[in-house]
Amino acid sequence: MEVKTSLLDNMIGVGDMVLLEPLNEDSFIMNLRNRFDHNEIYTYIGSVVISMNPYRSLPIYTPQKVEEYRNRNFYELSPHIYALADEAYRSLRDQDKDQCILITGESGAGKTEASKLVMSYVAAVCGKGQEVNKVKEQLLQSNPVLEAFGNAKTMRNDNSSRFGKYMDIEFDFKGDPLGGVISNYLLEKSRVCKQPRGERNFHIFYQLLSGASDDTLMKLKLDRDFSKYNYLSLDSANVNGLDDAASFRTVRNAMQIVGFMEAEVQSVLELVAAVLKLGNIEFKPESRVNGFDESRVKDKNDLKEMCELLGIEQSVLERAFSYRTVEAKMEKMSTTLNVAQAYYARDALAKNLYSRLFSWLVTRINESIKAQAKTRHKVMGVLDIYGFEIFEEGDNSFEQFIINYCNEKLQQIFIELTLREEQEEYIREDIEWTNIEYFNNAVICDLIENNQNGILAMLDEECLRPGTVTDDTFLDKLNTICAEHQHFESRLNKNSKFLTDHSLPHSCFRIQHYAGKVLYRVEGFVDKNNDLLYRDLSQAMYKATHSLMRQLFPEGNPAKVNLKRPPTAGFQFKASVGVLMKNLQTKNPNYIRCIKPNDKKVAHIFTDSLVCHQVRYLGLVENVRVRRAGYAFRQPYESCLERYKMLCKKTWPHWRGPARDGVEVLLTDCSVPTEEFAYGRSKIFIRNPRTLFTLEERRRACLEDLATLIQKIYRGWKSRTHFLLLKKSQVVVAAWYRRYAQQNKYQKIKSATLVMQSFIRGWKARNILRQLKYEKRCKEAVTTIAAYWHGTQARMELRRLKTEARNKRAVSVIWAYWQGTKVRREYRKFFRANAGKKIYDFTIQRIMQKYFLGLKTTTMSPMDNSWPAKPYGFLEGAHTQLRRIFHLWRCKKYRGQFTEEKKAVYEEKLEASEIFKDKKALYPSSVSQPFKGDYLEIQKNPKYQKLNSAMEEKVLLADLVNKINRANGKGSPRLFLLTKSNFVLADQKTGQVKASVPLPDLASVSVSTQSDGFFALKLKEGSASASKGDFLLSSEHLIEIITKLHRIGTTAADRDQINIDISDEFLVQFKQDKVCVKFIQGGPKNGNSAACKRKNNRLLEVSVPSP
Ligand SMILES: Nc1ncnc2c1ncn2[C@@H]1O[C@H](COP(=O)(O)OP(=O)(O)OP(=O)(O)O)[C@@H](O)[C@H]1O
Ligand SMILES: [Mg+2]
Repeated sequence: MEVKTSLLDNMIGVGDMVLLEPLNEDSFIMNLRNRFDHNEIYTYIGSVVISMNPYRSLPIYTPQKVEEYRNRNFYELSPHIYALADEAYRSLRDQDKDQCILITGESGAGKTEASKLVMSYVAAVCGKGQEVNKVKEQLLQSNPVLEAFGNAKTMRNDNSSRFGKYMDIEFDFKGDPLGGVISNYLLEKSRVCKQPRGERNFHIFYQLLSGASDDTLMKLKLDRDFSKYNYLSLDSANVNGLDDAASFRTVRNAMQIVGFMEAEVQSVLELVAAVLKLGNIEFKPESRVNGFDESRVKDKNDLKEMCELLGIEQSVLERAFSYRTVEAKMEKMSTTLNVAQAYYARDALAKNLYSRLFSWLVTRINESIKAQAKTRHKVMGVLDIYGFEIFEEGDNSFEQFIINYCNEKLQQIFIELTLREEQEEYIREDIEWTNIEYFNNAVICDLIENNQNGILAMLDEECLRPGTVTDDTFLDKLNTICAEHQHFESRLNKNSKFLTDHSLPHSCFRIQHYAGKVLYRVEGFVDKNNDLLYRDLSQAMYKATHSLMRQLFPEGNPAKVNLKRPPTAGFQFKASVGVLMKNLQTKNPNYIRCIKPNDKKVAHIFTDSLVCHQVRYLGLVENVRVRRAGYAFRQPYESCLERYKMLCKKTWPHWRGPARDGVEVLLTDCSVPTEEFAYGRSKIFIRNPRTLFTLEERRRACLEDLATLIQKIYRGWKSRTHFLLLKKSQVVVAAWYRRYAQQNKYQKIKSATLVMQSFIRGWKARNILRQLKYEKRCKEAVTTIAAYWHGTQARMELRRLKTEARNKRAVSVIWAYWQGTKVRREYRKFFRANAGKKIYDFTIQRIMQKYFLGLKTTTMSPMDNSWPAKPYGFLEGAHTQLRRIFHLWRCKKYRGQFTEEKKAVYEEKLEASEIFKDKKALYPSSVSQPFKGDYLEIQKNPKYQKLNSAMEEKVLLADLVNKINRANGKGSPRLFLLTKSNFVLADQKTGQVKASVPLPDLASVSVSTQSDGFFALKLKEGSASASKGDFLLSSEHLIEIITKLHRIGTTAADRDQINIDISDEFLVQFKQDKVCVKFIQGGPKNGNSAACKRKNNRLLEVSVPSP
């Protein structure tokens, strides 16, 4: 919900002076001071904003502030310039009323800043978009340009505007800015040539010299040193807090944004340079024959440079500084100028040049910012014009007179418009209009501007009058004509009361302005009003090739010679003020009255006397009086009711009827005297601020009660909510806890039930089981008993049957025996002689038959040694013989199946058995291995092809052996080949024959008794091969090799049998020595194979792993 705030909330002092009680100058200033000390620089007088210059930046112009004041009613928030800007902008946009914002105040009071704040606020709140933003930017950027050329540092203000400015900002129907028009008033051009002590010339001169590049300065023929220029005061060339160089860049940038062409900027700077050069032209007197002095340019260098800069012929300008052409009645006369006149002419030219340049700049900016669209515009005018100026000790001159005249006019229109507005509001609200007593300054305006006998008219008259015209003659004229005027005071007045007034010097006159009395010194009035520029100079300027220069001096065009005097400054000003006033009268005025708190340009200092002076001449107290002449305070019924409804039970908290009735009820209930208020159509008018404050006071008290009530209710509500929350939480927690507890309990009961159930079921089951078991046992017992019973019965029956059968059998046996006996007795006599032999034979035959059939079980394998045991002792001999015969027979059968080769193999095997069986431990492992002979596959293996072809006979055995080296006992692999007549040792890799020994040379072979594969081939002493010595070899196929060697020896008829020596120690004849080879049983740690080791020169030890 939006909370309706009011200006009256949290007020420091009073925010609206209309409510000031008691109202007098002191309380007025006290209130301003009080607010200023609390950083409240804005205060209202009704809709007028008083602005105190804080001389420091306050955080009250932020975008947040803009948002805060945007679309809010004027009296809703504490006083602010934004509130005024917002009010003006909204009534322009929404009510289609043209607005003007009149900003007044003395120099340094903050007028220019205020105007910029208004413009920036409007720029921030109005529409957005590329085109709109460009317009806004151009409008805002016109300020730095005009400030550079029109502002200067003065004693009162470091950035003092030395011209009056009125800017119309034009908006379309939506409130978007379209463009603007700037009007300038009375530039203080005297500053160009001379500045008071402690002040400076216009900023642009210093900015140009500080900020322009060397190149630019060279082009402009300028020097950076300020001291080189007569027109520039030196004592305050550098101002604290002003960076001229940076400002120059800002100005150039702003000119670019506003739309100045580069050439235009250059032309402007050339003219600025020309003014500086002009100031440096000096003159010297040259005596003429007629005794008069004639002026001559002293040093022509600056003149020359200036002429070059502007494209003026030097001689033309030089002449214009020495002569003057006077035209009268179609006659031209040339008179010489003395040095003083030359200086006057020079300064007049400089002043004119500069002020025309300034006006041209304004026109040029207007050209850029003028609204493009031709539709009807809404206009917001912002007037930043110099305020009332009163210098002490009568230092007020023509300028102050003009300025104060302008302010009089403004005051007049202020009074007019304020009263008009008041009156209009009263009529609008249907309130009776009571005439308001106030001071109308129309009479002062009339004193100045009256066309017949106004001061300005008389000044013009004096200026135009032939004959000697001086400031004194002008004063005399005033003294005669204005003598009777009650606001005009002069020493030489006919009015005798001033004759003895020593505060009024003879050369001065005094005007009682609405804001106070001002003493004007008449010196310079005539000259300044004349503002004379010799035609020769303007013609010289027109001859320049510089196009802007020509443009500025159109009267110099010889084709358009105008003998009429140009209008005087006073006349021009009056006219432009007249136009301005007309313009302002058509608009809805909004006032900003700026006040400066001190002369020191510092923050936090509030000089009462200075503020009092300003309050006085701005007529602010007067302003309040006018404002509250009828009713001090007014407020729409809705707002009034909203604000004070709590004061009456009937209106609190809601009033259901129309707001006006509510206010009526409210005020009656509050016992406000009826003369204190009046009911308008939409507003309630309160006559006295005190009434309002009483209402406010009661409201505050009521608010406290309400606050307590609200607090009470709120606290109650909060506690209740908290309690309800707690309660709800407690219920939830309790529910959860109960659920949890019940779940636990249920689980326990469930498990207990289950246990019980299981126990009961178990118990029941066991009972049933027991029952069943019992039943089963009973059943089984019955069965068993029955079985036993049946068994017993059966057995008894069996026994009985058996007995019966036995008895039967016994009977039959006995019978048989008896029969037999009987038969034998009977027949014994017939058979006794041969029956015995027959039975015997038959029995023997039967026994033999059974015996032979029993032998049938033996197998045909010769290896099978099994033979049934003899059944009868009498068969022993036959049994042994039969076994031998059968074995021989089945061996024969077995042999019969053999092929020749197989036979040979078996023969070899047999032979091996004969040689090694039970003699060498290696033998048993060789039995199962067939003798393969050619282990190397020498026939097929291409590797041994060469070796194979070297063999002349059939190779019986080819194997890989190790030849044991005597030196270390290590073996080196050799191929061992055996044929019928010799054995060969060949290299394993190359297959090259190392040794070929005919078998006849082999005497014996020695092997050990153990499971090793070592064997020594001993050669016959004296044989051809013996020279190489014996061979100690080892082979995996030792048994086969030796068997084959032995067999060759046995089968060869022409050869001795080879001896096979089996012993664990034998001698081997190596080349020279005999070496003993000894075999010992090594532990299993030696590995699986036998290892030969040289023990000493005569002993090689072979350790054989134990089996
Ligand atoms: N609202 C403000 N906040 C901060 N400083 C301010 C404010 N208003 C004015 N000033 C300060 O005061 C100085 C003078 O203000 P400004 O130039 O607006 O005065 P002025 O009334 O235009 O004077 P002049 O008539 O000489 O042009 C400014 O340069 C600025 O430093
Ligand atoms: Mg200013």
